[in-house]
Amino acid sequence: MRRGPIVALLGIGALAAAIATAVALLFPWLPHPASDERDRIDFVTWFTVAICIAIFAVVAAVMIYAVIRFRAAPDDDSDGSPVHGNTQLEIIWTLVPTVLVTAIAIVSAVVLARNDALAKDTLTIDVTAQQFAWSFTYPEAKNLTTGTLRVPLGRSVDLHFTSKDVIHSFWVQEFGQKQDTVPGIQTHLHITPNKVGTYPVICTELCGLGHAVMRTEVVVMPAAAFDKWLKGQTSQTSSSSTGTSGLAVFTNNQCSGCHTLRAANAQGKIGPDLDKLPQYAQQAGQSDLAGFIRQSIVQPNDYVQPGFPKNVMPPFDLPKPQLDALVQYLIQSSKKG
Ligand code: CUA
Repeated sequence: MRRGPIVALLGIGALAAAIATAVALLFPWLPHPASDERDRIDFVTWFTVAICIAIFAVVAAVMIYAVIRFRAAPDDDSDGSPVHGNTQLEIIWTLVPTVLVTAIAIVSAVVLARNDALAKDTLTIDVTAQQFAWSFTYPEAKNLTTGTLRVPLGRSVDLHFTSKDVIHSFWVQEFGQKQDTVPGIQTHLHITPNKVGTYPVICTELCGLGHAVMRTEVVVMPAAAFDKWLKGQTSQTSSSSTGTSGLAVFTNNQCSGCHTLRAANAQGKIGPDLDKLPQYAQQAGQSDLAGFIRQSIVQPNDYVQPGFPKNVMPPFDLPKPQLDALVQYLIQSSKKG
C-alpha cells in the first residue's frame, strides 16, 4: 500500500474517533452514581463504549475513504471487477471481534461476581412489595418497619424482597440495578451505597392501577447518623404511644406521596385530601371520626371517598402505637385545616 491512502485512512479514523469520543464524554448520559455496584457497572459501560468507538473509527475510515476514492463516474455503467474471498482479511475480522467480545464477557463476569459478594458485616433489610406501596423491615432493629428506606453509607446492604400480590420491580437508578419481587420466591439485591443523599425508589413493573404511584425514597445516611436513627426508632416503637409522633408515622409511611395535609406540608393529589377528613366522615355518615380514620388506614378499600380511585391505597398494617398516633395526629391536623 502506498503512503497516501494510509495517511488518509488514519486521518479520517482519528477524526471519527474524536467526534465519537466528544459525543460520549460531553453529554451526561448516565444519572449520578451512588453505589459501589453502580460504579462497577458504569466501568463495564465505558469499557464497551471505548471498544465501540475504536470499531466505529475503523469502519468510518474505510467507508468514507472508499466512497470518495472509488466513486464511479456518472457515465460508468460497467460492472466492478469480480472479487472473491481474502483469507487474511477474513481471519482478522473474525479474530478481532472474538477477542473483544470475550474481553467484555470476562470484565462483566468479574463485575457481576464482585457486585454479588456480601461483606462480613452486611446489613439485611426485608423489603415487602404490595399494590401499591413499599415497606422496609429491619430484623437488626426488632423488625422496625418503615415506608422510607434508610441505609448507612459505605456498608454492604442486602435487600431481601417478597411480594404480597403480583410482580413488582425495585429500582433506584443511582444504584444502577433493578430487581423483580415475585410472589412465592425471595429475591435479593446487594448494594453498597457510597454517596449520602435521597434518591427515588420506583416500581418498574406494571402492577395495576396504582403502579405509577408506587414510589418512595431511599435515604443514604452517614453510618453514625444511621445507627442513631435506628436506635431512636427502636426505643420509640417499644415505648408507649405517647412516645410516637404522628407526624413521624405520616412521613415514614410516605402518606404525602398521595395525600394533601397542610399541617405536614403534604401536597399529594392522588388520594383524598386529609384536611377534609371531618367532611368526608360526615358524607360517609360516620359520626365517629377516629373510627372512620382508623378503618380508612387499616382497610382503605372498604369505603373510598367518591371521586377517588378504589384499590390504589394498600391496607397499612401498623403497630398499634403507631396507628394510634397517626389517627390522633390526623384528627388534630384536619380539625385545624
Ligand atoms: Cu408495583 Cu408497579
